[in-house]
Amino acid sequence: MQQPDHTADVATILIPADRLQAKVAELGAVLSRDYAGRDLTLVSVLKGALPFMADLMRAMSIPVQIDLMEVSSYGGTATETSGLVRILKDLSSSIEGKDVLIVEDIIDTGLTLNYLLRYLRGKNPASLRICALLDKPARRLVDIEIDYRGFTIPDQFVVGYGLDYGEFYRNLPFIGVLKPEVYGAG
Ligand code: IMP
Ligand code: MG
Repeated sequence: MQQPDHTADVATILIPADRLQAKVAELGAVLSRDYAGRDLTLVSVLKGALPFMADLMRAMSIPVQIDLMEVSSYGGTATETSGLVRILKDLSSSIEGKDVLIVEDIIDTGLTLNYLLRYLRGKNPASLRICALLDKPARRLVDIEIDYRGFTIPDQFVVGYGLDYGEFYRNLPFIGVLKPEVYGAG
């Protein structure tokens, strides 16, 4: 694959950087209030949630611990999840008895998160909630209760702020939609 020209490939900016940062600040304040005095561990799912996690934790004023998981779905394509999830990187510490908040980039079909929820519940955390930057409800296949949500977006494949197409575009500071010919060529 040729190195894409990030700027030229973007058709529309759906959520500009300043709106993302304002939302992260708002979520950080709400979480700091809701989890005050608790034993909170943020569990982020690589690689997509990396920028969100990094910004969100710095928008929080309470003590938190973090842990990272990486999952991939078997099969599927660059824009579709298959629903069969494989753990590439597991938690490094026990979450038993801890308040756990899953920090995710986007909930699309919900299959990935559904798997993660069952997996993490099995490790007996004191509580388990979800914070998702983006919610794409149009394509949901399993019912998932999202406790903290950044933005609800239409049924479009988006990139930027952690989200990729063919592993590129994760470093864009905004959420955008690529030109149709870019997706077509992938
Ligand atoms: P789900 O299992 O269908 O909910 O999809 C979850 C994962 O699919 C996300 O964590 C992303 O990695 C990826 N994904 C879903 N929709 C998009 C999108 O619009 N852009 C980039 N990645 C996406
Ligand atoms: Mg992801």
